[in-house]
Amino acid sequence: MVSFSWFGMLVLAAFVLFCEWIAVDSGDSPSSDTEDALKKPLFNYSSVSLPDEHIGYLFHNNLTLAKICESDSLCPFKEHLKKMQSCWGYEKTCQPEYRYSYPMCSVVDGGWVNSISAAQELFWKQADFGYVRKQMDQMKVLCEPQKPEDSSLVCTSLLLHCTASKFYLDLRNPRRNQDRYKEDFLQDGEIGGHCKLNKAALLAEGQHKSPLQSWSSELLSYSALKLHPFENGECDLIVEKPAVFMKLDAGVNMYHHFCDFVNLYITQHLTGSFSRDVYIVMWDTSFYEYGDLFKETWSAFTEHDVIHLKSFDSKRVCFKEVTFSLLPRMRYGLFYNTPLISDCYNSGMFRAFSQHVLHRLRIQQEKPKENKIRVTLLSRSTEYRRILNQQELINAMKTLTFLEVQEVDYKYKEIGFLEQLNITHNSDIFIGLHGAGLTHLLFLPDWAVVFELYNCQDESCYFDLARLRGVRYVTWQKKNKVFPQDKGHHPTLGEHPKFTNYLFDVQEFMRLVLSAAEYVKQHPRWPFRWKRDEL
Ligand SMILES: *[C@@H]1O[C@H](CO)[C@@H](O)[C@H](O)[C@H]1NC(C)=O
Ligand SMILES: *[C@@H]1O[C@H](CO)[C@@H](O)[C@H](O)[C@H]1NC(C)=O
Ligand SMILES: *[C@@H]1O[C@H](CO)[C@@H](O)[C@H](O)[C@H]1NC(C)=O
Repeated sequence: MVSFSWFGMLVLAAFVLFCEWIAVDSGDSPSSDTEDALKKPLFNYSSVSLPDEHIGYLFHNNLTLAKICESDSLCPFKEHLKKMQSCWGYEKTCQPEYRYSYPMCSVVDGGWVNSISAAQELFWKQADFGYVRKQMDQMKVLCEPQKPEDSSLVCTSLLLHCTASKFYLDLRNPRRNQDRYKEDFLQDGEIGGHCKLNKAALLAEGQHKSPLQSWSSELLSYSALKLHPFENGECDLIVEKPAVFMKLDAGVNMYHHFCDFVNLYITQHLTGSFSRDVYIVMWDTSFYEYGDLFKETWSAFTEHDVIHLKSFDSKRVCFKEVTFSLLPRMRYGLFYNTPLISDCYNSGMFRAFSQHVLHRLRIQQEKPKENKIRVTLLSRSTEYRRILNQQELINAMKTLTFLEVQEVDYKYKEIGFLEQLNITHNSDIFIGLHGAGLTHLLFLPDWAVVFELYNCQDESCYFDLARLRGVRYVTWQKKNKVFPQDKGHHPTLGEHPKFTNYLFDVQEFMRLVLSAAEYVKQHPRWPFRWKRDEL
């Protein structure tokens, strides 16, 4: 708190009075501005950088910050102090009526559960913030500090996620080769901390050994060090800022790469920090660079460049605070092959992810237009899965004046990723053939419809992703009205529906587009909610 001398206060008060007197005359009120200009905020509020809707949740989880805001006249979030009961759902202090959202379930799926509420509960644990609760409940101390300055290692079951403090990594002799995730990269003594290690418990959790499923290959060699590296001059480099270790899936494929980002976001909920002043360290045991077509997205998570593990080679590195992120292909993880109970949709966690990323990347909703539905058709310039009569479909839509039709080809060299997101987020109906580009549906507005023109017999991939995000999913239904060019040419498997092109019946296409438009107009969050007979 800035403290003023008694005299200073008096001068300030006189000054304020003077200004107020002026203000009566000039008709506006500079008084509080002038007063505030002499004070400094107690916290750098711009570093929070969260969507307005999320601030109440932040306060619920960080009372220290809430108190600072309360006592600071310069806090821009005062309004949100009234919403401090808001909670994501995983907090033990969360009252049900203040939860961020609930999944929706339409029918009871006899195979899994026998009531709607049990179905909601199951979906919530599989794919909503209940998943965070489940991970939190599993956290177990594997290496226990004996003194305050000691190290620690705390992990979930199966080492899906861990946090470590005073973490030591010896990369003086890295066994690097062409494998991105070499299992014997580290040996005993090269990774560890000064703490009491429960080796049996650590070994017991190391069963999921596939690299993108757990951290077992890395952490099974975690050792209790005899000397405290931080205090015995054994660190060539001390990393003060928190670091997040990640093992990444394919950076050239949006579906796979967004499994990385979604899991990083879930991890942030686990650790309770959304700070961007953290280092993302790409755990990679190869010499290779990482090809990343979506790298703009990182700035939603860090203000620093992503660091390749190899940049620490030849050093003993000591990290003050480390998080091992949830991984993109965990069994029962999100969202790669997530087993989801049927007939349920709307994961608040995915909606929050979408809002979080869009906010930090400064993508805005340019206000939908009254009497217009914005349709984006995603074109592909690949060899296969092209729409053979695309122009005909576009022309048919253009005959309806209430459809504002746009055709895009999301080639990263021509349309930067942020621009792509801007277009997607400003679409009410998003149409495309099966392909990773449909992962864009994560960033559609809540009222939108994604129309997977044809799923090429891969029925659940984007249907499930749309269910998670909570947007409406439509796909081609009439098999006799879609015409493949031929039987398909998979390089090794022969005939394959994903390896050919398609022609679509125009009338049937228009029927589906119109039903999608109808859905948009009826959505409770659609800003205009047109009257039924307006079209
Ligand atoms: C406040 O935080 C923002 C965002 O992290 C940063 O750019 C800015 O430099 C910080 N301001 C101060 C005064 O530290
Ligand atoms: C609360 O927020 C402050 C300021 O960002 C941060 O320093 C502190 O670590 C946070 N506390 C928790 C429990 O996350
Ligand atoms: C998004 O698109 C709108 C118009 O379509 C444009 O005015 C705006 O500047 C774009 N925003 C970004 C961040 O690209």
